[in-house]
Amino acid sequence: MADTSFDVLILGAGSGGYACALRASQLDLSVGLVEKGKLGGTCLHVGCIPTKALLHAAEVADSARESEQFGVMASLDGIDMGGVNKYKDGIVTRLFKGLSGLIKQRGITVIEGEGRLVAPDTVEVEGKKYVGKKVVLAAGSYSKTLPGLEVDGKRVLTSEHALVLDRVPKSVIVLGGGVIGCEFASVWRSFGAEVTILEALPRLVAAEDEDVSKMLERAFRKRKITAKVGTPFKSVETTDDGVRVTVESGDTYDAEILLVAVGRGPTTQDLGFEDQGVEMDRGFVLTDERLRTNVDNVYAVGDIVPGLQLAHRGFQQGIFVAEDIAGLDPAPIDEAGVPRVTYSDPEVASMGLTESAAKEKYGEDQVESLTYDLGGNGKSQILKTQGFVKLVRQKDGPVLGIHMVGARVGELVAEAQLIFNWEAYPDDVASLVHGHPTQGEAIGEAHLALAGKPLHAHS
Ligand code: NAI
Repeated sequence: MADTSFDVLILGAGSGGYACALRASQLDLSVGLVEKGKLGGTCLHVGCIPTKALLHAAEVADSARESEQFGVMASLDGIDMGGVNKYKDGIVTRLFKGLSGLIKQRGITVIEGEGRLVAPDTVEVEGKKYVGKKVVLAAGSYSKTLPGLEVDGKRVLTSEHALVLDRVPKSVIVLGGGVIGCEFASVWRSFGAEVTILEALPRLVAAEDEDVSKMLERAFRKRKITAKVGTPFKSVETTDDGVRVTVESGDTYDAEILLVAVGRGPTTQDLGFEDQGVEMDRGFVLTDERLRTNVDNVYAVGDIVPGLQLAHRGFQQGIFVAEDIAGLDPAPIDEAGVPRVTYSDPEVASMGLTESAAKEKYGEDQVESLTYDLGGNGKSQILKTQGFVKLVRQKDGPVLGIHMVGARVGELVAEAQLIFNWEAYPDDVASLVHGHPTQGEAIGEAHLALAGKPLHAHS
């Protein structure tokens, strides 16, 4: 029964599931990995990787269009979506091959098909039963829609459809100004489409610091992306050449296509979790801090666990669970220490608490903030980007939050993460030597200013 019985049986081979499989096999545990689609899941095939490829192609288009400001005479003659998709798919295929090879090399048994939990230690796949001493639920998430909003894949799309469009639409309505909405709005605008975002909440990327939302909205306005915030969706109808969206106020918006980006829900329906007594809340699987469900020997990781639905959180949870199962007693993951990046133009990157969350936690007068304008940062000026690094700190205490807007600030989140996890004081970071000229210097400068000794900023 070698092939049907495992130390660890994992349901879902997305970021959380496959990371768990790789780490578990490294720890000499036998692993069965059940997957109905492709190894790598949403992130690799229809999420993080292909969208970031589109965003890079968008940046190249902008560079060509705006080359003259650098004294370079180039022109943008058009976007060949066939070519863009080939570039994007090539990246996904290469990474997929690499991952598949690694999984094979580690001796992990891949079980193809849709799995269902039929006993706490048993997953059934296409009529065959597989048993795990430990079972890890890692079924991921799907694009949500709204009541009365039917996704047809032609005019009303989710991000999955948007990723395989064979043309640049003339005009787009993006429903939802969260992460997915802002990233696609950014891509399509760079490719030349007219873009309108409809967002129910009073601001874009509403989970971020308020100043971040304001800066992003200003930058989008400059790029002629229309962002209608405080504008909840009411209904949609198809027209001769596209869609007409009506919002709560009664106003209507017309476009060629509508992208629905109103969040992602946990893929947990009809997978037998409840039948086996797994405690759930609104479709999410509840766990303790060691990612154990209430059912003995059943764990859960990734987007089905309440919290940030981010691939890197899933990876870390997968690794954690493998080590927990192997008896390594890893320290629980600090959910507050998960970095966030929105890869629009400009990018948004953040770590830790927003100013308002910090004030709620520590009290209005116990929190200080400082905003360092990228106008004072040489590399940012070279890149011709606007934005800032905003720091939130506990009065006389450590840095609680780092919030950034600007081209390529996503790459700066690694340092922000170290600062946050180190519970650094402004002086600690101010005394580090930052390479010059880098955008990372802006982090150093912001901490210098917060420590009361601004260099390239006004006192
Ligand atoms: P989201 O939760 O970030 O944004 C959805 C937005 O839709 C919200 O702002 C919400 O207020 C709005 N909305 C909901 N109902 C509405 C209505 N009736 N009318 C108008 N607006 C409405 O979810 P999103 O953007 O779909 O992303 C899903 C998940 O995928 C997120 O958890 C995100 O973190 C993750 N993701 C992460 C990326 C990254 O890390 N760069 C990239 C893409 C997705």
